[in-house]
Amino acid sequence: MNEPRLIEFDKIGDEEVGYISVAQYEKNIPFSIQRVYWVYNTPEEVQRGNHAHKTCQQVIVAVKGTLEVILENLEGRECVFRLDTPDKGLFIPEMHWRKINFSSDAICVCLASSRYDEVDYIRAYEDFQALKKTRT
Ligand code: TYD
Repeated sequence: MNEPRLIEFDKIGDEEVGYISVAQYEKNIPFSIQRVYWVYNTPEEVQRGNHAHKTCQQVIVAVKGTLEVILENLEGRECVFRLDTPDKGLFIPEMHWRKINFSSDAICVCLASSRYDEVDYIRAYEDFQALKKTRT
């Protein structure tokens, strides 16, 4: 099974002129990018995510602010990642339940391996749990 992992993007530039970081298929992104979206102005008390994807893989980047990402796999193993710099990304494999907490200034850019398709979502935690049980 694919595992979640942090990705370190190179920082091109310096303190004087600022930086560019690049996400590029096969260099640091393990899938061909089919869709890019960004999430912003999320109040701190709101938790986003709360779903899994059947096939879609994603890399998320906090281009501004801080994200706390809690992932759970089909074995029930939970891991927590903190994204607080634009030169770091998190690879989220398919079939991982995600919960995402935002700082109020956070902007989350998401690179996705497939186009938007509601059928790819598992939105009910019970349905995710049920898939777990069929695996054990
Ligand atoms: P969702 O993926 O549920 O976001 P979050 O987990 O952060 O709450 O998407 C929220 C809404 O936006 C939902 O109605 C579907 C819609 N949406 C699209 O239409 N296209 C997209 O590519 C995405 C990511 C969401």
